[in-house]
Amino acid sequence: MSLAHEAVADLLKFIDGSPSPWHAVLTIEDILADYDFEYILEIEAWKLKPGGRYYVIRDDSSIIAFVAGKNRLVKQGYKIIGAHTDSPSLRIKPHALHESGGLLRMGVEVYGGPILATFTDRDLSFAGRVTHLCDNGEIATEYIHFKQPLLRLPNLAIHMNRHVNEKGLLLHKQNELPLLFAVSSENQLPDKVFSDLLASKCHTPVEQILSWEFNVYDTQKGAFWGANQEFYSNSQLDNLASCHAGLQALLNEEVLASGNTVVCAFFDHEEVGSESAKGAEGSFLPDILERIATAQKLSNDDYKRALAQSFMFSVDMAHAYQPNFSSAYEPEQRVYVNKGPVIKLNANQRYSSTSVSVAMFINWCQQADVAYQHYSHCTDIPCGSTIGPMVSAKLGIRTVDVGCAMWAMHSIRESAGVQDHIDMIKVMQCFFKDN
Ligand code: CO
Repeated sequence: MSLAHEAVADLLKFIDGSPSPWHAVLTIEDILADYDFEYILEIEAWKLKPGGRYYVIRDDSSIIAFVAGKNRLVKQGYKIIGAHTDSPSLRIKPHALHESGGLLRMGVEVYGGPILATFTDRDLSFAGRVTHLCDNGEIATEYIHFKQPLLRLPNLAIHMNRHVNEKGLLLHKQNELPLLFAVSSENQLPDKVFSDLLASKCHTPVEQILSWEFNVYDTQKGAFWGANQEFYSNSQLDNLASCHAGLQALLNEEVLASGNTVVCAFFDHEEVGSESAKGAEGSFLPDILERIATAQKLSNDDYKRALAQSFMFSVDMAHAYQPNFSSAYEPEQRVYVNKGPVIKLNANQRYSSTSVSVAMFINWCQQADVAYQHYSHCTDIPCGSTIGPMVSAKLGIRTVDVGCAMWAMHSIRESAGVQDHIDMIKVMQCFFKDN
């Protein structure tokens, strides 16, 4: 296996172990623990050692890991890689189960902007967190991951949907998205079926289960594909691939020894606009950066100087050219899988890149001996955005929006190029260890 394939094999394992944003943070925590990162709580007073490795979690699904640098923060600034832990999906509604036509169906809400048709005919299940009362009266949260397929959205047969190949599969969100779960039986209370299922999984009495949040996910594992296995596929590449890459860069020996204050900030809620206590629009990152400065006895003035000296990679996946749909792409601005990290530009500031931040990124690509590409969205199609502009606006940190090129963004089965993942990690490492 090449180094590039090894890096992606590790990524696929990372995604397979992360069926919800809460699980993604658990997976990241496990990896950080292997590298002696210490978990610190926002409710505690912080004593940070120079060179110490730490991480903070807000509400179970956003995480910031950092090394408190030995170099002077005011002179070096923070080196930040930002990405998001959530992916567009279906979320299970309260009063999840209901009976219809002799079947129990699971009611779902659409989270973010998934390509709904891709959820049909997949081996779906669900994962998330359950909050329950403990015997000692305290409230605790448990992470639940049903690994076997439990749910399905069977397509309508073509015999009843004759124009599906001409018009596409349109799903009515309220009526046609509920997921099939079981054959119903007489005298069965759907709510009880669901709470019994949770209770047995949590080993907690039904009456002690207080609340929960669940993400629907695809149980199919990641895979390599293509004549030379140069592509890979899985769910949630947007944006767990970027979280994984950032983490690999952070854990590089030379980065850890660089003396720089390096930060990985991975946020939940990007796919729904980031406006929450733990989202990129919230106070999580500003709070943590300020507390790092305070713990190092920086004055407010010096903290502001450090911010002014800082740089951030806002990392999110990019749209690779797919020749079957050539008219959707700006002909002069195509980007390709396995041709290097993509630099995203948008004059209307949907991306935070500026000519200066782009130049700095290119410089790190050249140092890492990695190819790069420029992307600009088709002019007559509205452009997506990332956490880049909001974090950059809030903190005044110079930022570049970058990402690996991929196909089928927001499908339940996305794909991308093997070489790009390791190339992105290399550029990130160069950035993090640069003095
Ligand atoms: Co994204």
